[in-house]
Amino acid sequence: MTTTSSTALKFAYWVPNVSGGLVISNIEQRTDWSYDYNVRLAQTAEKNGFDYALTQIRFTAGYGAENQHESVSFSHALLAKTTHLKVIAAVLPGPWKPALAAKQLATISHLTQGRIAINVVSGWFKGEFDAIGEEWPEHDQRYARSEEFIRSIKGIWATDQFSFQGKYYQFSDYTLKPKPAEPSTIEVFQGGSSKAARDMASRVSDWYFTNGNTVDEIKKQIDDIRHKAKLNGHQVKIGVNAFIIARDTEVEAQAVLKDIIHYANTEAVDAFADASKEAGASTKEKEGNWANSTFEDFVQYNDGFKTNLIGTPQQIAQRIIALKKVGVDLILSGFLHFIEEVEYFGQHVLPLIRELEKNEQ
Ligand SMILES: Cc1cc2nc3c(=O)[nH]c(=O)nc-3n(C[C@H](O)[C@H](O)[C@H](O)COP(=O)(O)O)c2cc1C
Repeated sequence: MTTTSSTALKFAYWVPNVSGGLVISNIEQRTDWSYDYNVRLAQTAEKNGFDYALTQIRFTAGYGAENQHESVSFSHALLAKTTHLKVIAAVLPGPWKPALAAKQLATISHLTQGRIAINVVSGWFKGEFDAIGEEWPEHDQRYARSEEFIRSIKGIWATDQFSFQGKYYQFSDYTLKPKPAEPSTIEVFQGGSSKAARDMASRVSDWYFTNGNTVDEIKKQIDDIRHKAKLNGHQVKIGVNAFIIARDTEVEAQAVLKDIIHYANTEAVDAFADASKEAGASTKEKEGNWANSTFEDFVQYNDGFKTNLIGTPQQIAQRIIALKKVGVDLILSGFLHFIEEVEYFGQHVLPLIRELEKNEQ
């Protein structure tokens, strides 16, 4: 399936490169973190109209996720087995330095016809940073570092003899060769919803990824970012997370949600909720991912139930169009049984969305 126009909504899915699926629940999940499963998933996704796949970076277990494959190498391996899917590799400033990331991604872009992108994440999991001996700047300083990281990699990719004098990174007449492959500029995504995240998006990122939320709450974030971006002469696109449960009837879909929560791994959810206090909740504004999340919200670790894409294909398609109308450009999706549900989404939900989009024009 091809998208209908350049304004058509884009679709991404979370790569399950960590174990345990996308919900912190002991419910049966026919999702697997192995490479073989992920190759089949990526091939299914590109056949079913998905534009992007997003890998996760985790150095230690958190929210369950006992095993975690590394994001950049895993992204490259998926690109090698697909033909047009773009894969967004999560990268964490701190463990990654901008010179290494810029070089690594430029090479991967040559090896994969420019299909690699990057998600710069700023870190919420202090226990993980402590475990690997990485410094843990406070919340807004982590974003200050991420912003320098993004300015550095973009500068390295765009210019010869790149120089930069930041607090965290310095470059002096650095020329990267080869630059990323044509026709690509490597797209830079970022994840997080705090004021610091929104400010960074309004200055440097190509894409802003946020946790799941209601249409009204998403609209508030978008209005804030786009207003500031305009003042900065910058353009940024918006991606929203959603855990999608599409079933033939609403009753079936709601029953799945109920079961996921009923079988929640309470201990892991509570530990995750506790660790998440280092995110937006730790700032003076007390805004950001998980700042207002309930136990049920935490069961999908990026607040994916809040977006409410749970119901019949028709209901989901209409709710996705409502998100588009407030300025959303991309839906980032998670599923319980990934391969089979990505296929169902491509066959039953996406065609309805494309129809509704045609009526919009
Ligand atoms: C779509 C998305 C993907 C993310 N992926 C990762 C990841 O792979 N690894 C990670 O440590 N944090 C990840 N994060 C977390 C963010 O980088 C950030 O630490 C968190 O959302 C808190 O940000 P805030 O305080 O600005 O709201 C992701 C966030 C979002 C929205």
